[in-house]
Amino acid sequence: ELPERVEIYEVGPRDGLQNEQNVVPVAVKAEFLDRLADAGLRTLEATSLVHPKWVPQLADAAELLQVLTRREGLDYPVLTPNERGLDRALSAGCDHVAVFASATETFAKRNLNRTLDEQFAMFEPTVTRAVREGLRVRAYVSMVFGDPWEGGVDPDQAAGVGARLMEMGCDQLSLGDTIGVATPAHVGAVLDACAARGVGVDRVAVHFHDTYGQALANTLAALRHGVTTVDASAGGLGGCPYAGSATGNLATEDLVWMLDGLGIAHGVDLAALVDTSVWMAGHLGRPSPSRVVTALTPE
Ligand code: HMG
Ligand code: MG
Repeated sequence: ELPERVEIYEVGPRDGLQNEQNVVPVAVKAEFLDRLADAGLRTLEATSLVHPKWVPQLADAAELLQVLTRREGLDYPVLTPNERGLDRALSAGCDHVAVFASATETFAKRNLNRTLDEQFAMFEPTVTRAVREGLRVRAYVSMVFGDPWEGGVDPDQAAGVGARLMEMGCDQLSLGDTIGVATPAHVGAVLDACAARGVGVDRVAVHFHDTYGQALANTLAALRHGVTTVDASAGGLGGCPYAGSATGNLATEDLVWMLDGLGIAHGVDLAALVDTSVWMAGHLGRPSPSRVVTALTPE
């Protein structure tokens, strides 16, 4: 019923840091990525090639991709909302990019300066060209379960946005609970809606924020439905600057603890990961919100 192995898609360097007010030095970001790789993570979302004014924390993306040693066999996806972002990804030698759509009208406007329909006109040429250039393209959908301005979101509405991106040539759909309002039955309903639109669980990842403390319960529900890729952020860092009520992502440590208990393989060294999050918390000036990091850190 549960998978034997889960792929952890680490978003700490991107989603984890993007909302931090004080700009983290590029050398610290590079070391963060190296430490995460040392801890056994194989997919590391490194940064975003977005407009630097929109996400000032990641304005150093090009420099980071230059100073970072990308290890053989590891995967370093980056966010690219549009063709300008793709140009930058190609010059930086990236082979895996991600577009990020909104399931709702209001968040499309706030996060992308586009209407719900207009966002597809931005993604279509981006995805088409990326695929033609031989890149892998992940499709995020945000506000899948609820939106701070519009309230609940119809599962079929969210699945429809995701299916449209997959039809463009994306290879994985990450379902984003941007503000952390999902609960387990709702997760099942959205996965069913995706399957009904032809996007099966083998091509779906889940991306939970832990605002309401539901991220692990939702992850377990997704695993029971057959999902095997889970997004998480070291130390539980995270939040979206354009969604006020969003807090940290599912902490990678919390996920690893649960997977260990379930006997599901993941390849991560928990002690090394906790050390990394404690080190990063030192740079950010406040303790990690992860319960597992707290429990495993001596006084
Ligand atoms: P816009 O202002 O509509 O852009 O922003 P535009 O297309 O009109 O272009 C205006 C200027 O920006 C032009 O420069 C472009 O070259 C430049 P000018 O000709 O005026 O000198 N520009 C760029 N520069 C650098 N890199 C680029 C780029 N694109 C245009 N890629 C845009 C539209 C999409 C660019 C903007 O809204 C944006 O950057 N948004 C990003 C917001 C963001 O990063 N949000 C956080 C990530 S999403 C998230 O966290 C959710 C997720 O975790 C899942 C979940 O939790 O749900 C993924
Ligand atoms: Mg997110």
